[in-house]
Amino acid sequence: MKKLAAGNWKMNGTRAAVAEVQALLAAHPAPACEMLLCPPATLLAEMAGLAAGSALAVGGQDCHANAAGAHTGDISAAMLADAGASHVILGHSERRADHGETDALVLAKARAAIAAGLVAVVCLGETEAQRDAGETLAVIAAQLDGSVPKDATAGQLVIAYEPVWAIGTGRTPTIAQIAEVHSFLRARLSAHIGAEAANTRLLYGGSVKPSNAAEIFAVPHVDGALVGGASLKAVDFGAIVAALAAA
Ligand code: PGA
Repeated sequence: MKKLAAGNWKMNGTRAAVAEVQALLAAHPAPACEMLLCPPATLLAEMAGLAAGSALAVGGQDCHANAAGAHTGDISAAMLADAGASHVILGHSERRADHGETDALVLAKARAAIAAGLVAVVCLGETEAQRDAGETLAVIAAQLDGSVPKDATAGQLVIAYEPVWAIGTGRTPTIAQIAEVHSFLRARLSAHIGAEAANTRLLYGGSVKPSNAAEIFAVPHVDGALVGGASLKAVDFGAIVAALAAA
């Protein structure tokens, strides 16, 4: 299994920001891991053009569950693929919170993404209140069972564990907490999709940065990272890529 360093630019970046992509590719032309950047939809085609033939894949940050139709403001999986995307992030906690996305909706989106030939990067994670209440593993199990297609293969699916309280806060779980969740995730995914789970990438996300990447990547069943803020600058994301390639 090749490890995956994924960046989520969220609602950041105008066309000037693609200079960061050029800098990243110049510094890391052939890393020993996969690289993925998910820019705003407005930058997808341009970034995909720059990344063509390189070690960088590009992805969307969301897609609609339907293939086409009267859904103002939405983007279908096929449109992302047409713009050059190979992946799409689904069920990010910001989508779940800001847009009321349920597990059932994330599941429908994941099915649509896979049908369009995209890799579905399905996000899950507990809130701080849920962790404090001792509900972390139960919440993650329910999200996984509810949002991941049962027939997904390792090549069609990536899971990102992102504790909501660690996103954009500078706080990260302890190494023991990450290890507990990731080993639970592997077992739960096996129960859900079978043997494909062994080769499905499990990413950790939430305040990953150059200074903590190496210790997180040493945790068993952490097969990469989904990086928000630190993916915006080539020098920071590149350092995380280098840490993963060395792990
Ligand atoms: P962060 O975001 O790295 O800025 O904490 C992670 C994410 O939301 O994917």
